[in-house]
Amino acid sequence: MKVELRLSNDGSSTLYNVDLDETYHSVHGAIQEAKHVFIEKGLRFKMAEQSNLSILEIGFGTGLNALLTINEVLNKEGVQINYVGIEKFPVDIELLESVNYCNILGGKTHFDRMHQANWNSKEEITPTFSLNKLTEDIRQVRNISEFDIIYFDAFSPTSQPELWSVDVFQNMFNSLKENGILVTYCAKGQVRRDLQSVGFKMERLLGPPGKREMLRGTK
Ligand SMILES: C[S@@+](CC[C@H](N)C(=O)[O-])C[C@H]1O[C@@H](n2cnc3c(N)ncnc32)[C@H](O)[C@@H]1O
Repeated sequence: MKVELRLSNDGSSTLYNVDLDETYHSVHGAIQEAKHVFIEKGLRFKMAEQSNLSILEIGFGTGLNALLTINEVLNKEGVQINYVGIEKFPVDIELLESVNYCNILGGKTHFDRMHQANWNSKEEITPTFSLNKLTEDIRQVRNISEFDIIYFDAFSPTSQPELWSVDVFQNMFNSLKENGILVTYCAKGQVRRDLQSVGFKMERLLGPPGKREMLRGTK
């Protein structure tokens, strides 16, 4: 699989998958999008209710969403995040060393620790954040433990329709606790209806800059 480094419009890096002709993040701004969709509408929304959270990320990629999550909870008293990131095609180390997230966001020690952490093993990255990176195909993952939040960050339904199937959504729904949420940058009507069909209560929310809407589903 050929992957190249690119720059998005907010000055933050993204990667470009040549085979799929798709970037890992919004071209309007990788950090901007990740902060809005996953941190603002996911993590902060849920942290208003509770401070001990299990998060599942679909498509761990560069670890940008995990880094933003670490930064968000760093030094917060009483907070504990158990983060599981599923990634079928781990990003090459040279590319991870080339992205500019730590220049913009800080947290280089944590970023390095995340990427040096063993796969398929729960590792403590900071006192408030543990990480388990799973090298699996999300279609094969079944009955993983119950989560409070799912960051659904797969490539678009146009590029990888098989990851936006009712079967995958049903599995996501089953992996959440009651009142758990799934957030995604995607706002397609068919995706919203399919998520609804497996039991999610869906909301259309304001999207990140450059995108009109995004979706949040609640179990
Ligand atoms: C949109 S990118 C995710 C970006 C990532 N969250 C980040 O911040 O860098 C989608 C990710 O899903 C991964 N992926 C593709 N097919 C997959 C599959 N079947 N199971 C798990 N991950 C998959 C890709 O390798 C890629 O890293």
